[in-house]
Amino acid sequence: MFLQAGIDRKVRLVNSMAPDATTMRLLENARGSILKGRLPASLIANAALYQLELKRVFGRTWQFLCHEDEIPNPGDYVVRYIADNSIIVARQQDMTIRAMSNSCRHRGTLLCRTEAGNESAFQCPYHGWTYRNNGDLIAIPAQQAVYGAAFDKSRLGLRALPMLDSYAGLVFGCVSDEAPGLDEYLGDMRWYLDLMMSKSAAGIQVWGAPQRWVIDANWKTGADNFVGDGYHTVMTHRSMCELGLLPPDNVAVSPAHVSLSGGHGAGVLGAPPGIPAPPYMGYPEEIVSGLSEGYGDDVHGEMLKRTMFIHGNVFPNLSFLNAFIAKDGESMPVPILTLRQWRPLDAARMEVWSWFFVERNAPEEFKQQSFETYVRTFGVGGVFEQDDAEIFQAITKGTRGELAGGVELNVEMGLDNLAPDPTWLGPGRPLASGYAEQNQREYWKQYFDYLATPRRDENV
Ligand code: FES
Ligand SMILES: [Fe+2]
Repeated sequence: MFLQAGIDRKVRLVNSMAPDATTMRLLENARGSILKGRLPASLIANAALYQLELKRVFGRTWQFLCHEDEIPNPGDYVVRYIADNSIIVARQQDMTIRAMSNSCRHRGTLLCRTEAGNESAFQCPYHGWTYRNNGDLIAIPAQQAVYGAAFDKSRLGLRALPMLDSYAGLVFGCVSDEAPGLDEYLGDMRWYLDLMMSKSAAGIQVWGAPQRWVIDANWKTGADNFVGDGYHTVMTHRSMCELGLLPPDNVAVSPAHVSLSGGHGAGVLGAPPGIPAPPYMGYPEEIVSGLSEGYGDDVHGEMLKRTMFIHGNVFPNLSFLNAFIAKDGESMPVPILTLRQWRPLDAARMEVWSWFFVERNAPEEFKQQSFETYVRTFGVGGVFEQDDAEIFQAITKGTRGELAGGVELNVEMGLDNLAPDPTWLGPGRPLASGYAEQNQREYWKQYFDYLATPRRDENV
């Protein structure tokens, strides 16, 4: 018993090995300077901090796993990831959802090799141990002969995720028990998730499997962009402006840039003056007429009525976009709704996961148009996505090395000169501008605070 305690302690110490003192000092300084708009460049894609990031950020934040609609029937499952954890998320016979480590308890072999399907049990490809889709170990080949009939299988079930919950159909999990409850964690972000996900009482349909791809960029570049960066749009996506698919110039005037608790943030933008845009983001009448029922109030509908573009990020790495946008120069623009997750693979590489959602009761023709628009804009081959990915990679490369890494980047936009929007209908701290960097400052502050604060299980 004493020996085991000693081993556990050693393992914990090794796992929590801190980066060198210089990096930790830099991190401590950054906690103080980021709200003044100064971001140390070397902290963006920092290999020395990566293990700490996995433990202290990804090890205690709520991470998106799937939408409930991806596993509608008993036995349905998907395999998802929380950083380097592979996780089976499975719908049970009683329609509840369970999530468990995709790792056999015999030798740790990856158990489930397919990304989605319907199974009542999973059999390990190495020696054949078999688990029910709730994680229970139910069969061991040759058990009677080599383990004995009385061998207790109940202690060798798949490890369940310590925390699992859902909001607006979005299923989240945490690999430790150190996250606050999901409602508390999401805070006012729930209002904006409702704005996008709860337009219809008929619910959301997840269209196809998520698209995913790997880029040579740190995962935070995506989060920093989506949490508040309206500013890049007419430069990074200039070709879209030239093709007439985006307003030609400064869209800073269409509020608002909304800072939320917990490092979450959103931009909820209307049409710039002089740019014709339909109310309700161009959603079809079948959806607009059911908004009050879907939302359960009128204020969300009022907000949607004057909105053209919603972007944002749930701390730390789940971004979203609900936007009225054109797929080419000829067809009518339509709204799209997409979630994307920036999954870290290492300090300079991430796997992007991108889901396309549409309201279940929308007309089929609209669904098809919306999907095609997503594919051409923010799908893996989408023009906006390509533009952004190129920049995310350029930041990761551009902040390397002693010279570039040694400077403080500027995150000062709107620090003292932007006013709150008094007309704002939603919660949070809105600035009356589409361009600002308050969300980014608060995102990075939250990230640095997580990194600098030990987990409870590090206190050995
Ligand atoms: S490793 Fe899974 S059965 Fe042996
Ligand atoms: Fe972009």
